[in-house]
Amino acid sequence: MLGLNKTQGEHLADTTLTIAVDGPAASGKGTLSRQLAAHFGLNYLDTGSLYRAVALIALNDNIPLDDETALSHLASTLADEVLSDPRLREPGVGEAASKIASLIPVRETLLAYQREKAQTAPGTVLDGRDIGTVVCPNADVKLFVTASSEVRAKRRFDELVSKGQGVTYADIFAEIERRDARDSSRSAAPLIKAADAHLLDTTNLDIEKALDAAVLLVNEAIKTQN
Ligand code: CDP
Repeated sequence: MLGLNKTQGEHLADTTLTIAVDGPAASGKGTLSRQLAAHFGLNYLDTGSLYRAVALIALNDNIPLDDETALSHLASTLADEVLSDPRLREPGVGEAASKIASLIPVRETLLAYQREKAQTAPGTVLDGRDIGTVVCPNADVKLFVTASSEVRAKRRFDELVSKGQGVTYADIFAEIERRDARDSSRSAAPLIKAADAHLLDTTNLDIEKALDAAVLLVNEAIKTQN
């Protein structure tokens, strides 16, 4: 059960560094966050994988995507292994995850785990939609990573094709637009840039340049705090 049954605080540090990375679908925030975590020697949590994991099990077990009670029970009993299941990255699972993610009881169930992870020494980079606004409103650094819809769809299309999935660019573009609209318009923890987040538009940046820009922003933020 995702370590949720551990005694709260048993491995928490007094001082940790929290980096919140939010942004729309396929904006490159996952790759960037993983690299930021490696650069600064921090833990990494892909919070989208939590919603995707609930969605994957729900799809497999034919649980309706609006059954709040069954889905929040699923969220409270997730096993660590499911978070690395390659099927999590399939487009249908992303779409189902976005439907499930609008349910308040599911979000609340996943909140404690995310916050506990955020405080685990020496600190954590978390990526998602509501990290800077809801999960870690006091994060040391907040980034909002975006790119044009076309560039995001192309990146996701290339990623899925390289994994051997038979997808079309048009379908991926439509799925991303649908998901962004749903994630931005929901009442529970919508996708929105936190007022104090730094905007990082990666439309014209490759991974290396995006990482350089993000490292600069994090170093600046750390310097102004000290
Ligand atoms: O990788 P990608 O940007 O395509 O999606 P993801 O980060 O894996 O998130 C999948 C879905 O989970 C999103 O479309 C959101 O609906 C939901 N999600 C969320 O609501 N809150 C988060 N903190 C993370 C993901």
